[in-house]
Amino acid sequence: MGIFVIVVSIICFMLVAVRSNNIIGANWGTQATHPLAPDRVVGMLRQNGFQKIKLFDADYGTLQALSKSGIEVMVGIPNDMLATLATSMKAAEKWVAKNVSSHVSTNGVNIRYVAVGNEPFLQTYNGTFLRTTFPALRNIQSALIKAGLGTQVKVTVPLNADVYESSSTLPSGGDFRADIHDLMLAIVKFLNDNGAPFTVNIYPFISLYIDPNFPVEYAFFDGNSSPVIDGQLSYTNMFDANHDTLVWALERNGYGNIPIIVGEIGWPTDGDRNANLQYAQRFSQGFMSHINKGTPKRPSPLNAYLFSLIDEDAKSIDPGNFERHWGIFYIDGLPKYQLNLGTTNTGTLVAARGITYQSKRWCVMSPSAKLEDPEVAPAVSYACSLGDCTSLGYGTSCGNLDARGNISYAFNSYYQINNQREIACKFPNLSIVTKTDPSTRSCRFGIMIEPYYGASGEHRVKWLQKLSSLVVSFVFLLLSSL
Ligand SMILES: *[C@@H]1O[C@H](CO)[C@@H](O)[C@H](O)[C@H]1NC(C)=O
Ligand SMILES: *[C@@H]1O[C@H](CO)[C@@H](O)[C@H](O)[C@H]1NC(C)=O
Ligand SMILES: *[C@@H]1O[C@H](CO)[C@@H](O)[C@H](O)[C@H]1NC(C)=O
Ligand SMILES: *[C@@H]1O[C@H](CO)[C@@H](O)[C@H](O)[C@H]1NC(C)=O
Repeated sequence: MGIFVIVVSIICFMLVAVRSNNIIGANWGTQATHPLAPDRVVGMLRQNGFQKIKLFDADYGTLQALSKSGIEVMVGIPNDMLATLATSMKAAEKWVAKNVSSHVSTNGVNIRYVAVGNEPFLQTYNGTFLRTTFPALRNIQSALIKAGLGTQVKVTVPLNADVYESSSTLPSGGDFRADIHDLMLAIVKFLNDNGAPFTVNIYPFISLYIDPNFPVEYAFFDGNSSPVIDGQLSYTNMFDANHDTLVWALERNGYGNIPIIVGEIGWPTDGDRNANLQYAQRFSQGFMSHINKGTPKRPSPLNAYLFSLIDEDAKSIDPGNFERHWGIFYIDGLPKYQLNLGTTNTGTLVAARGITYQSKRWCVMSPSAKLEDPEVAPAVSYACSLGDCTSLGYGTSCGNLDARGNISYAFNSYYQINNQREIACKFPNLSIVTKTDPSTRSCRFGIMIEPYYGASGEHRVKWLQKLSSLVVSFVFLLLSSL
């Protein structure tokens, strides 16, 4: 009996251990006006069965919240730190001591990877990080070894899929981009020598976004697309083809067996005509059914992190308005759509718990205000520049509002982001506060959660002060222009 129990528990343990490797991870970014408190997010991760998380920095409060959670952590080094870490071994040692060692030893944080930089070779960076990334990677690796963490914590560099290309448009033509070919080989050799993985971010959505002729079905995993035949292999979705272009590039250069991590994979839900709940659900669920199968050239389970966990309403929208809508959860921790990660009993996403909202109040265009009022345009453009109007526009969730609805949406966004301060709904003679929810079936006029002034609260308070002084000067400007 006793032996039986032990054997059963060993088998269960092994199953869990094997399973946990392939369980999906998530990216946890924090560029939000009202980020959820880190312990709420960690609660949410556990409720949803996430066992690994990828971070873009090494925020103390975030790592603290992950302490003793058992969740595997990939901490990130932002690109703007690469130059310092490349030139100074001391800086690298300090970074590791402060942002890895202390969390591992005193706080029980299960750090497993350090991501050195984030897509540093992206073509839009014009080569800014070409000379610093590899030296920074080497220094961090040496610092990890020196700190006795060389086997436990692996380095990697999350790269955009634009570091490789195919000479033939087929995966089998894959090789690294000509302008960084030697650098890529040096990095891959280094990762391989240190038992570290290659990390790549793959975005079928972006392909569809930049190329109106991209075949929509090829972005998804349903197999509806007419197959692309590459020798013995057949491809019906872009993810597989792109991933295998990398596998070929690695194999061509002698590293066909290096482990690959898919650092970011996902679909946004707003801000573009192809960014909506239906497509996002279809893509994410399709990926989840695909994850254990792998790709035609590497038919073994994928190690991947969804992009992303929660929306970030303060992200730069240079790449596009969709940037603020990658979450599988809204900014308040509510699930956006039905997604079965295979990790919960219910097979659905579980909302964050213990969230407190601000009052049910909205700022809208005053019924007495006139659309022709010349103050409307500057007021809206001001509200949108400091608020978030990425859900307005063709094919977006609020794209069907009429002109007054549009203006109200802009005013409200600004008002909520400013924590419903009275002064943030004082667009002269244009705006009023209402207790009637202006939301429509597809368009959410959101209410923010109570702001979190935790570990990094200082930063946020300063940011809010800056905003409110801007509000004051704006109102002043409007008044003085009369
Ligand atoms: C630790 O990481 C944080 C967040 O990325 C960074 O601001 C800080 O400079 C790092 N500490 C050291 C000693 O490098
Ligand atoms: C890259 O170069 C282009 C064209 O010269 C410029 O517009 C852009 O701002 C540059 N980007 C960065 C990140 O330096
Ligand atoms: C609402 O705003 C969006 C985005 O600014 C614009 O494209 C659209 O034409 C506006 N709709 C109306 C009815 O004004
Ligand atoms: C607001 O409207 C009132 C009455 O129509 C007018 O007297 C006042 O000048 C307006 N104020 C501004 C700031 O436009």
